[in-house]
Order: sequence, then structure tokens, then C-alpha cells
Amino acid sequence: MKVLLIGSGGREHALAWKLSRSPSLAQLHCAPGNPGIARHARCHPVRAEDPEGLLALALDLAVDLVVIGPEAPLVAGIADALRRNGVPTFGPSAAAAAIEGSKMFAKDVMRAAGVPTAETMPSAQAPCVIKADGLAAGKGVFVCRTQEELDAALPTAAALGQPLVIEELLEGREVSIFALCDGARVIPLAPAQDFKRAFDDDAGPNTGGMGSYAPAPDVDVHELVDAIHGPVLAELARRGSPFIGVLFAGLMLTENGPHVLEFNCRFGDPETQSLMPLLDDTLLHALAACATGDARSVDLRWSDDAAVTVAVAAASYPAAGDVGSPIAGVEQAEATGAYVFHAGTALHENTLVTNGGRILGVTATGATITAARERAYEAASLVSFDGARYRTDVAREAAALV
Ligand code: AMP
Ligand code: GLY
Repeated sequence: MKVLLIGSGGREHALAWKLSRSPSLAQLHCAPGNPGIARHARCHPVRAEDPEGLLALALDLAVDLVVIGPEAPLVAGIADALRRNGVPTFGPSAAAAAIEGSKMFAKDVMRAAGVPTAETMPSAQAPCVIKADGLAAGKGVFVCRTQEELDAALPTAAALGQPLVIEELLEGREVSIFALCDGARVIPLAPAQDFKRAFDDDAGPNTGGMGSYAPAPDVDVHELVDAIHGPVLAELARRGSPFIGVLFAGLMLTENGPHVLEFNCRFGDPETQSLMPLLDDTLLHALAACATGDARSVDLRWSDDAAVTVAVAAASYPAAGDVGSPIAGVEQAEATGAYVFHAGTALHENTLVTNGGRILGVTATGATITAARERAYEAASLVSFDGARYRTDVAREAAALV
């Protein structure tokens, strides 16, 4: 098969690496890609935000499948345009992607599907959570435990210029549950956990994600997708917008059972970096089967290992990124057996340089979370660039549990 992957982050690097190992892959193309992805795919300089350019590229290359990484092109309707032109596509229509694109739409679907989520509140009173309604790259959510936090959050949230949703603050352990969907069926991936706050001990603002590990312990993914993803998929189909792609539920495991914090319409970043090394080489078959609307033949096999990913970010992330600082130590980190997934990198006169907020994701596997964690941190300590920073507590509690 000829495949076109859309995106340029660490998630897409992990997907490209996994797709490149598929027995049924003939050619892998990526738009726009990054220097890490370029090791596995031919990269084309078409941006993920350029729907006409992407459609022209897919038709020109005559690909058998397009896999879309990021949410913005999905919410903008790239999958509709591709399918309308006869290109098999793994990714939801704009109507189905609204499950991520609009928090209000997601709440409405959950209510209709009977899926538990945080209750909305009529006015902002601490403790509560303030959310911008539309896409904000993980930075539109403000968890306010105190009045001071609420006072600080309200102007920042209002400045995003979107309607705001106010909801109750839920307590518990967070877990990311992904399911591959063919419009009607759900195939769960291994449970993962993401570390959203910028600093150790969950301090600081929310980010796109500072690390992840998988599998999250004591989680029955089949039970969760039956209770959550299945009813949502059925409700979307009932509304005439069947969901084809990854339905990603961010869940809080509360005392009163699992509650949905958010839905996303795509693979998680950096959860995907921890999941792909644990998966067998049938990803391409699974994505292609979902894209054609019949995932009955899909049978994903997972390794018994654990994986831990540490995001190495720019000094000022998430407020700002870094561009053009030389990156060193990637080969040394890889020599330890770790994977170094490129997230925000570029090549400048043959030198690898920073180009974003989260720069690299360093992933390692091991027989236990503890072993994977030690290897991931050892490798992460070997990469360097001006201002490089990472959390030191990714998977720390999970490692202590098992
Ligand atoms: P979201 O983008 O909606 O997943 O929110 C980002 C992060 O904010 C989540 O991963 C949680 O850590 C936190 N969060 C969101 N909603 C709530 C809530 N209702 N209660 C507690 N924490 C929340
Ligand atoms: N890691 C969370 C996300 O991709 O939104």
C-alpha cells in the first residue's frame, strides 16, 4: 500500500515508524513531516493546514490510504474532501470531529449517549474548571481549585476569544483511552496516561503533554470502551456522522466511576509515542480496515512490556517555543536502545535544530514501568539544546505501584 501521513509532530514520528514496519507497506509519504519522520517516509512540503494542497498531493501520489495526525485539519474537513475524491482516509469527517472541535457539542452527544462527564455549572465559582469551547492545543483548560486561581484564569481564558464552558472539578486518576473506529465498531488500544502540566508534581499550566506511559495499571479497556466509546459512536452514527478514526477519551477515574474530561478525534501526543513500541506490526492493516468501514479482521497484539515517554521541551514552553538552537545527543540517546521521536525539530544547514515547544519525545520500553522509566530518563539526559527541560516525575507514581 501507498500511504500518506499528515502531520509533523512526535505522534506522527511514532506513527511513521510503526507504519514503516508494516509488511503491507509499499511507500510511506508524509506532509509536511520532520527530520525524524524523514528517516521512514518521503516528506513533502505541504502544510497540514493546506487542505487543497493535501488533496492535490494525495491524488498526485495516488495513495491507497491517508492517515491524519492532528485535529485542526480534521475539524476543518480534510477527511471529507479526501473521501469525496475517492481517497480512503483514516480520520473523521468534520461533523464527527466536532466531538473534539466543540466542547458544547461533545457535552450534547455525551448527554444523549448517557455517558458520564463533568456537570456544567451555571456560573464560575471555585472549585471549577474553565474551558474554551474550541481547539486550543491543550492550552484552553484552566483548573481552578481556589478563588485566586479562578481570578487569574478568567481573563486569560476570556482572551482566547471563544465561548467558555464552566464545569465541576473532578478528582481521581486520569487515563487516556483510545479506540480505532470504523464508524460502527471500536477496537481499544492499551490504556495510557499523559502528564499535562508543565512542571513536576502537576504544577504550572496545562501543555500539550510533557510525558506518558503505557499500559496504565488496573484499567479494563474493554469495559471502558463498551461504556463510553461505543455509545458515543452509536450516537454520532445516529446523527448521520459515523466516526472513522481514533476516538480518544480523556477520562477521570473518580470514586463514582469513570467520567469523560474530553474527547479527541485523533491519536494522543505523547501517548502514541508510548503505545507504538508496544504494538505489533499490524497498524497499517488496522487503519486501512477502519478507513474502508470494516474492522472485523483487526486483531491488535500488544507486548507485555511497559513504555515511558519523556517530552524534552523548550525553556519557555508552553508560553513560547524555541527556534534554531542546535540539538545534540540524539544518536547517543538512541544508542541506549531508546526511541527519540522528533516533535519540534528542523534541519538548518544539516544541523538538527529546535523548531517548536515540545522538541523531542524520548521513549524507552522495559519489563516493568520502573525499568522503562529508568531507561527513558537515562536517554533523555543525553539529549541537549539551549534551555532543554523535562519533567522528572513522569510515571513515578505508577512505577511505585507495581
Ligand atoms: P481537557 O483538554 O478537557 O482534557 O483538559 C485538560 C486537562 O485539564 C485534563 O487532562 C485534566 O487534567 C484537566 N481537567 C479537565 N477537565 C477537568 C475536570 N472537570 N476536573 C478536573 N480536571 C479537569
Ligand atoms: N496528550 C493529550 C492530547 O494529545 O491531547
